[in-house]
Amino acid sequence: MEKVKMILDCDTGHDDAIAIMFAAGHPDIELLGITTVSGNVTLDKTTSNTLQMCQQLHLDVPVYAGMDRPLVREAYHAPEIHGETGLDGIEFEELTYKAQPKHAVNFLIDTFMASDGDITLVPVGPLTNVAMALRLEPRIAKKMKRIVLMGGSCGLGNSTPSAEFNIYADPEAAHVVFHSGVDIVMMGLDLTLQAETTGEIVERMHAIGNKAGKLFGDIMSFTIGTVKEKYGKDACAVHDVTAVAYLVAPELFETVPMYTDIDINHGISYGRTVCDCNHVTGLPANAHVGMGLNVPKFWELVESVIRRYE
Ligand code: BDR
Ligand code: CA
Repeated sequence: MEKVKMILDCDTGHDDAIAIMFAAGHPDIELLGITTVSGNVTLDKTTSNTLQMCQQLHLDVPVYAGMDRPLVREAYHAPEIHGETGLDGIEFEELTYKAQPKHAVNFLIDTFMASDGDITLVPVGPLTNVAMALRLEPRIAKKMKRIVLMGGSCGLGNSTPSAEFNIYADPEAAHVVFHSGVDIVMMGLDLTLQAETTGEIVERMHAIGNKAGKLFGDIMSFTIGTVKEKYGKDACAVHDVTAVAYLVAPELFETVPMYTDIDINHGISYGRTVCDCNHVTGLPANAHVGMGLNVPKFWELVESVIRRYE
């Protein structure tokens, strides 16, 4: 299989950290760079957490820091899930890895403009960097192979009754992206909540016995605890990993094409992804919305990637 070229845009974050592990470790993925954005925690923390993961896993992937705040709304973070550092639960090393001097938005623009249209962008945090890049250089829309993102929900939200975190954290940016004309695959909560990490999954990955397996265990055990406190559940979804996994195993996913818009009115549904599930608008689909996941095969895939680490 020819390698899939991708850029990961993230707000690391526990499940983002596993997404980095997956993207860098899968043999059929060429990870060209990682861009960071304000989201789960502030930009300085999402960037240092990203570097921390790269350093601990000995990855040779350039990291670019991006936007330190949303386009319009005030910053919105999720310390109640990810802790004060954004990656509570791991043993931190003193950082020697450093971010690149270039801004993430310029990296995105330069990389897509120089490409043959064969790079997929995988945003798993608020869409601020992506929207900024599309506004600064609109020609990149035609250069993106597609955007496979984690965010939104056809059903209900997790930050408000209507809105999912990544979209709620920057609804105006999401509006720009969903109206960009780029082919979008949306892994929303309808799908990602099926990828639940239970205590059994933690034990299974930990039992692999390598550093990546231990990191998986430390990382996901922490959010199993915080999710239990906030939502009363005994498992925590590894949301962001699904978007990366889709690139190499689309057969494990059921997606439905739908017209999808973002509510940017400042009412109770601010930040909601309004998905035309019943095709009542007659508008052409602008997103393939993830609805179904082959859960056992998904975990087999994740395990196989973790096993590749030393
Ligand atoms: C999303 O919100 C963040 O907390 C996670 O990293 C994930 O990207 C799930 O709603
Ligand atoms: Ca994330």
